[in-house]
Amino acid sequence: MYVCICKGITDSQIRDAVNNGASSLRKVRKQLGATSQCGKCGIVTKKIVDDTLAQNQFDNEGLFYALV
Ligand code: FES
Repeated sequence: MYVCICKGITDSQIRDAVNNGASSLRKVRKQLGATSQCGKCGIVTKKIVDDTLAQNQFDNEGLFYALV
C-alpha cells in the first residue's frame, strides 16, 4: 500500500528500511525520502516504523527464550 504519495513509497519499503537498520522516523526519511515533501504521510510512517521496531523486539525476545 502506498503510504507516501509524494515519493511513491510503500509500507513494505518502510518495513524493509527499518529491518535493514533505519531505527527511527528520521532515518527512514533520510533513507527513503518519506515525509520530506508535504509531510501528510508522517503519522502513518511513524506508526509503521514503531510497529516494525516493536515486532522486531518481540521476535528477538522469542529467539532469546528459544536459546535458553
Ligand atoms: S505524502 Fe509523503 S511527503 Fe507527501
